[in-house]
Amino acid sequence: MEKSTIEQIVRERRTIRTLTNQTISLETIHDLLESASYAPYHSKDEPWEVIIVREQQERQVFVKEIMNSYDRLDTWARYEQEHLEKAKKRTEDYFLDVPVTLIVTAPIGESEKSNLEAIGAVSAFIQNVQLVAWAQKIGVTWRTIPVIFDEVFKQNSGVAAERQIIGLLDISFIDENITLPKSRRKPVTQWTKGLNEKVAEMSKENKE
Ligand SMILES: Cc1cc2nc3c(=O)[nH]c(=O)nc-3n(C[C@H](O)[C@H](O)[C@H](O)COP(=O)(O)O)c2cc1C
Repeated sequence: MEKSTIEQIVRERRTIRTLTNQTISLETIHDLLESASYAPYHSKDEPWEVIIVREQQERQVFVKEIMNSYDRLDTWARYEQEHLEKAKKRTEDYFLDVPVTLIVTAPIGESEKSNLEAIGAVSAFIQNVQLVAWAQKIGVTWRTIPVIFDEVFKQNSGVAAERQIIGLLDISFIDENITLPKSRRKPVTQWTKGLNEKVAEMSKENKE
């Protein structure tokens, strides 16, 4: 059966971790976010908020906050001394090179239900960003690195106390020369089931 365009994009999209230095305009980012905001949500107000890190000075501040947070969280403890400086530099250089980072947040729900709904809706929003970006040859990496749980990082990055970070999205135009490994998923029959077992149990109980 022939796949619709949307189904093709859903199946073809990949996380892109290779960066290019092609500039991404604010207009392009706004366009992606506006499309993504047609995600479903189940609260009075749309739950997503996004901090856009795009200009050079913003990036310097952002990367400094990431590196400070990594220090605070003792992320480097597992590195042996001889590899430490290299590892830090690799991390810093990577984050300095990302053309655009989006800090995507959701409100912290007051109940388990409202929290689930907020995270669910904002995750749907993020997937919309990834799909719309893919269709424009723009790559995304959704990151949940430890810094997103660091309250000081959160505050210093301008995230309100009553909100939680759902992901950092690294955005870069896709280098068309890279080859991506084919995406694989388990066959649907491995992770789906019906209620037949329960039905059988119930009818056995009723007979007894
Ligand atoms: C909630 C969430 C958190 C993720 N966090 C990270 C991350 O911190 N670092 C990273 O490199 N990729 C991260 N990813 C990307 C996944 O590793 C990636 O989606 C997965 O390997 C499947 O590959 P695909 O996106 O190309 O289909 C995250 C994805 C999701 C959905």
